[in-house]
Amino acid sequence: MSTPLRLVVLGNPIAHSKSPAIHRDFASQLGLPVQYERVLAPLDGFVGTVRALQAAGVAGANVTVPFKQAAFELASQFSEGARFAEAANTLVFSSEGIRADNTDGGGLCRDLNRQLQAQQLSLADCEVVLLGAGGAASGCMAAFKNHGVQALTILNRTVHKAEALAQRASSIGLPSAGAGFDAKAPSTSLPRVVVNASSASLAGEAPAVDPAWYNNAVLAYDMMYGAEPTAFVRKVASMNPALPTSDGLGMLVFQAALAFEIWTGRAPDGLATLARMRQGLGQQHG
Ligand code: ATR
Repeated sequence: MSTPLRLVVLGNPIAHSKSPAIHRDFASQLGLPVQYERVLAPLDGFVGTVRALQAAGVAGANVTVPFKQAAFELASQFSEGARFAEAANTLVFSSEGIRADNTDGGGLCRDLNRQLQAQQLSLADCEVVLLGAGGAASGCMAAFKNHGVQALTILNRTVHKAEALAQRASSIGLPSAGAGFDAKAPSTSLPRVVVNASSASLAGEAPAVDPAWYNNAVLAYDMMYGAEPTAFVRKVASMNPALPTSDGLGMLVFQAALAFEIWTGRAPDGLATLARMRQGLGQQHG
């Protein structure tokens, strides 16, 4: 039997992570010998933990809260998405050093395009209205640009963060504007995709924006997910019953699929894994 490829997910906390189940599903689909484990890194011991894993022969890592910035700082090579966000969710260890990727944005775009396809649309036809301007939002900018998003509006509770992120996004060629949640929505001829990248759902809340942002909307998507519909999904569905909504379980699975491909060179069937994960969550929507 060949030596398994050893991979980990690093975070704090980490016990809740679904990444091991997802990556084991990919490995079994493709018949690849992969060992994927959770590792709890101490809050003040991320670098030491990574060094110990490298020395033990681990080939790569996913990185989650609160270490995505620290992971970026440890690397010497970067993907465009990691460089823009100055944060990494995927590390590749090699004798030449550490390469940092950020597959969150690519995973999100894959899931958005999959769902837009049902309406004969793709991101390249659409304006994205992004709620939130933190790490989750900035992790998606390079991917939005690469998927040809026509225009981006970033709405955030703290206005200056939305403006600053929009300015940086515009500087890489993604036409963007930033404003507060109270901004009035201009009319648009473009189909709108509204994406919640704020952590409001964690508090059981949904950003209160001008309802007119949902005019012309074709999809409302929450990066969060759970066994029950998130606060954002519930609110949007009650205000716009005909608008398709989705939680972020697909983003989770597709970002993992992109990381798996980086490590192994093989592309798993993310959709099949998503169906199994959804079943595991015990819910049908999305
Ligand atoms: P993440 O990595 O999840 O993006 P973050 O970088 O701390 O975490 O960013 C959290 C985002 O959620 C921010 O846009 C934050 O808004 P502020 O910039 O105004 O802090 C947003 N957020 C958090 N709680 C929120 C709430 N209750 N309502 C609306 N937005 C909220």
